[in-house]
Amino acid sequence: MRFLRTAVLCSLLAVASAGIFPRTYDTHDFFALQLDPSTSPDHVARVLGAHHEGQIGSLPGHHKFSLPREKGPGMDALLQDLRVRRRLKRRGGSDGTTVQKREDGLDGILWSQKLALRQRLQKRIPPKERLDASWQRAVAVEDPAAVQNREKIVTALGIADPIFDMQWHLFNTAQLGHDLNVTGLWLEGITGDGVITAVVDDGLDMYSDDLKDNYFAQGSFDFNDKVEEPKPRLFDDKHGTRCAGEVAAGKNSVCGLGVAWSSRVSGIRILSKPIDDADEASAVNFGFQDNHIYSCSWGPPDDGKTMEAPGVLIRKAMVRGVQDGRQGKGSIFVFAAGNGAFADDNCNFDGYTNSIYSITVGAIDRAGSHPSYSESCSAQLVVAYSSGSGDAIHTTDVGADVCAHSHGGTSAAGPLAAGAIALALSVRPDLTWRDVQYLLLETAVPVHEEGDDWKVTKIGKKFSHDWGYGKVDTGALVHKAKDWKLVKPQAWYHSPWLRVQHDIPQGMQGLASTFDVTEEALAKANVSRLEHVTVTMNVNHTRRGDLSVELRSPEGIISYLSTTRRRDEMNAGYIDWTFMSVAHWGESGIGTWTVIVKDTNVNGFSGVFTDWRLNLWGEAVDASTQQLHPLPDEHDDDHNIEDAVVATVSVNPGPTKTEPPQAPPTDQVDRPVNEKPPSFEPSPVGATATTAAASVVSTSTASVTSAAATAEPSSDSFLPSFLPTFGASRRTQVWIYASLALIIVFCLALGIYFHLQRRKRLRNNPHDDYEFELVDGDDKADALTNRKDGRRRRGGELYNAFAEESEELLTDVTDDDDNSYRDQSDDEGKEKDMTKSEDA
Ligand SMILES: *[C@@H]1O[C@H](CO)[C@@H](O)[C@H](O)[C@H]1NC(C)=O
Ligand SMILES: *[C@@H]1O[C@H](CO)[C@@H](O)[C@H](O)[C@H]1NC(C)=O
Ligand SMILES: *[C@@H]1O[C@H](CO)[C@@H](O)[C@H](O)[C@H]1NC(C)=O
Repeated sequence: MRFLRTAVLCSLLAVASAGIFPRTYDTHDFFALQLDPSTSPDHVARVLGAHHEGQIGSLPGHHKFSLPREKGPGMDALLQDLRVRRRLKRRGGSDGTTVQKREDGLDGILWSQKLALRQRLQKRIPPKERLDASWQRAVAVEDPAAVQNREKIVTALGIADPIFDMQWHLFNTAQLGHDLNVTGLWLEGITGDGVITAVVDDGLDMYSDDLKDNYFAQGSFDFNDKVEEPKPRLFDDKHGTRCAGEVAAGKNSVCGLGVAWSSRVSGIRILSKPIDDADEASAVNFGFQDNHIYSCSWGPPDDGKTMEAPGVLIRKAMVRGVQDGRQGKGSIFVFAAGNGAFADDNCNFDGYTNSIYSITVGAIDRAGSHPSYSESCSAQLVVAYSSGSGDAIHTTDVGADVCAHSHGGTSAAGPLAAGAIALALSVRPDLTWRDVQYLLLETAVPVHEEGDDWKVTKIGKKFSHDWGYGKVDTGALVHKAKDWKLVKPQAWYHSPWLRVQHDIPQGMQGLASTFDVTEEALAKANVSRLEHVTVTMNVNHTRRGDLSVELRSPEGIISYLSTTRRRDEMNAGYIDWTFMSVAHWGESGIGTWTVIVKDTNVNGFSGVFTDWRLNLWGEAVDASTQQLHPLPDEHDDDHNIEDAVVATVSVNPGPTKTEPPQAPPTDQVDRPVNEKPPSFEPSPVGATATTAAASVVSTSTASVTSAAATAEPSSDSFLPSFLPTFGASRRTQVWIYASLALIIVFCLALGIYFHLQRRKRLRNNPHDDYEFELVDGDDKADALTNRKDGRRRRGGELYNAFAEESEELLTDVTDDDDNSYRDQSDDEGKEKDMTKSEDA
């Protein structure tokens, strides 16, 4: 009897511990579902036989579910069925079809996406060799008077940081004026108190003596290893620590100083392993009431042929961040512009940097030159200092007392801008995300003004696609912030879809399409003056890299929305792609807007400009009535070309003396060979090439099972061959076996305990005091087994419930899927698998 109960208890424990076993992509499929407010995730989990993993970050109604791999195909089919039903419902039965209500409540699923692990984000480190080569060149000679001034600052502030005199970006004693102009603020006592910057990266060494005092644990998380501490764990997890040091390395006797050395930093680790969109969406909102700034020195590959934007979950999270983060003032997202300039890459082909919600920061080097890696685009707001002209950024590195001396690329520029913003927020915590953008462009300092790309914009500021509004001047930024009048809320105007449907002539002439924005239209939209302008467009072309697009505003300002890319062979054109420009800031928006699409390469590749739409974003007329923009939705760009307004079209829209801007004049020595940028493939310490390969393969869900079988050979198991590996990774195996061992030991101990107790009780007391406890346990076990059975049964029914849906509908719906923001260039098959399940 006792033995039986012990056995029951042990099986209960086994069941419970099965719940603790991490449900990983090795064994499970994961889905993101959006549920309507009346549908509970528990209900959905029960009906689907899935496990509710929890809400996705800060997105209400968005939940993550998992279920064993073998149930995956059934789930895929079910979700596809629901998608068809939603699509029919959206059509409102106009074509005579009616959609019957489902009995099981699954109509409450509003959107679904099968999640996949992907390693698509890369750190924005410039090609290594080039940095090392330039590093050997002599750095310019110091100016004795400037050296004296630095010594005065050191004395006044009691700076003991040993590499402060190498940190030219804070105080440049050789190229005078080429620094962040920050030391004056420090002397005024402005050093970043109360501001927290989250470095979203590959980890942060919170035990570094330079960072530990400023580390903010509550704002930190490791999304790669699912633990609290975002500690660097791989041999090359150094990037995040270096970025964090630039922002908030403390004033102490270790390495150098951060721009805002009294501010704090959180670490959010996402770059060290493949992650899914749900985790990335959670990461960019993590702790968003505490973390004020999110510094992001990464993005899709800068190879000159990728065109990729974050998925809808991540886009929602970013909008949620600016609307709800920082008590409604908005999270500040700072993104590195990208290092692909030498491969003709442009930050408008990257959906993070061309988002209106992010501040795009390019690079300038210590001599004031444009580094050849730093990308240009109309979405670039400012530049900040980084590597080039023989030097790099000197900052904190991983280790108790280790300094980094070759930190560079736009990766290093972004965090310096983040540090400057931290100082501004320390004097004005009430600045909204848009005020920060205003302040940056108001106070940025143009450089190399002799270059012909500079244009005076409506607000009398100069803008260049290479430099944005210029380099960050921290002193000017913070002083301007002190008495800045907050801007009114954001308003917007979305034009209708404009149908062009016209061949693009080859050569220089281009195909122009115009649209008139009337005063009434803007008044109705409550837009008083412009900030960002976006153009969403469809161009059908057999070689994407041949295309370039410019936008001319009514006031005559030209934005080069895209430029040709010699490496971009993609047979696709632009599919619902949104380009962004900050060059029209301050314009009224009223009048004729012109989009000109060019196909300058006369060759066998040609295309059609299908349609476009203009979106004007700006300041509201009336703050009191202005609503927040709805969160992005995958149907935002849905439209029927037949319904689009026919736009005015003309070939050869007059002289554009304006060539798309070429790379700016830089010191030619630094101009790189066209080498491939290094691809980032972190592998665990001591791992072999096999694991790296496995992590690449695992980006494709469909092939993951077979890949795991082939790519992880028996050598990956450290166990005697008679023990099953569960097809799991070494780590998971350790987990499983350690847990099993623990359970066995526990059960044995329990058995012995009961045996002894029983003998004791038999001796002392004929009654069994423990009876009720054990009955309780039995109940739990019963309940659990029942629930398990119930799940299985209901799930099974469901998988057959759509059997009668027609084949045509199921195939039809894939066309409707909004995958446009995903590039499929590198490995079409794989990418398709990843994105196929996006909802339509
Ligand atoms: C530098 O910062 C100071 C404030 O510390 C400010 O007065 C000045 O305008 C800024 N710019 C330059 C170029 O000095
Ligand atoms: C513009 O403001 C008015 C009230 O001032 C409001 O009723 C209307 O909904 C607003 N329009 C938009 C598009 O926000
Ligand atoms: C794009 O071009 C291809 C090849 O010419 C054609 O098959 C396809 O229908 C076109 N798509 C659109 C939307 O025009």
